[in-house]
Amino acid sequence: MNTTIKDIIERRSIRKFKPDEVPQALIDEVIEAGLYAANGKGKQAPIIIAVTNPDLRMQIMRDNCRIGGWKEGFDPFYGAPVILIVLAPKDWPNGVYDGSLVMGNLMLAGHALGLGTIWINRAKEEFEEPAYQALLKKLGIEGEYIGIGHCALGYPDGNPPKASARRPNRVYYVS
Ligand SMILES: Cc1cc2nc3c(=O)[nH]c(=O)nc-3n(C[C@H](O)[C@H](O)[C@H](O)COP(=O)(O)O)c2cc1C
Repeated sequence: MNTTIKDIIERRSIRKFKPDEVPQALIDEVIEAGLYAANGKGKQAPIIIAVTNPDLRMQIMRDNCRIGGWKEGFDPFYGAPVILIVLAPKDWPNGVYDGSLVMGNLMLAGHALGLGTIWINRAKEEFEEPAYQALLKKLGIEGEYIGIGHCALGYPDGNPPKASARRPNRVYYVS
C-alpha cells in the first residue's frame, strides 16, 4: 500500500503517553508538516504554539480539565509532554477549516515519525480566557485568535488501539 495512505489509515488517537521528552528536531518536523497544510486563499493564517515548558503544560492541563468539567487531577492530555496549540485569526472566515487541516497534518506527521498524537478540544474556550489572551500578548501575537485544537504529542505508552470499523453507507456515487 502507498505509505501515505497507510499512515492515514493506521494513525490512531493515543490516550497513554510516556513522559519521555521528544527531541526538538522531531517536534519541528511535525510542526513543519502542519505549516504546509492547504489553506484558504494561500493566506497561511493559522499559527501554532508549541508548549514543552512543564509549568505552562501543567496550567493548560488544569484549565482544560476545569473547562471539560472533570475531577481535579485528570490530565486531558494523557501525559503527553508536548502540546501543539493551533489557532486562527478570529476575523478569517476560513480559520476553522484551515486550522483543522493543520491539526490533521500534525497528527499524521506525528504518526509517520513513530510518535503518538491526539486532538484535544477546548482550545476555543481556553483562548477566550484572559490568561490565554495574556499569553498571546506575551508571545508578541497581535490581534484576536480563536483556539482550534491542541495536538498532544509524545511517545505512545503501549500498543495503539485498533480502529473501529468504518460506518457503512457514507459514500454516494454518482456515475
Ligand atoms: C475535533 C476533535 C476533537 C477531539 N477532542 C478530543 C478530546 O478532547 N479528548 C479525546 O480524548 N479525544 C478527542 N478527539 C479524538 C477522537 O475521539 C478520535 O479521533 C476518534 O475517537 C476516532 O479515533 P481515531 O482518531 O483513533 O481514529 C477529538 C477528535 C477530533 C477530530
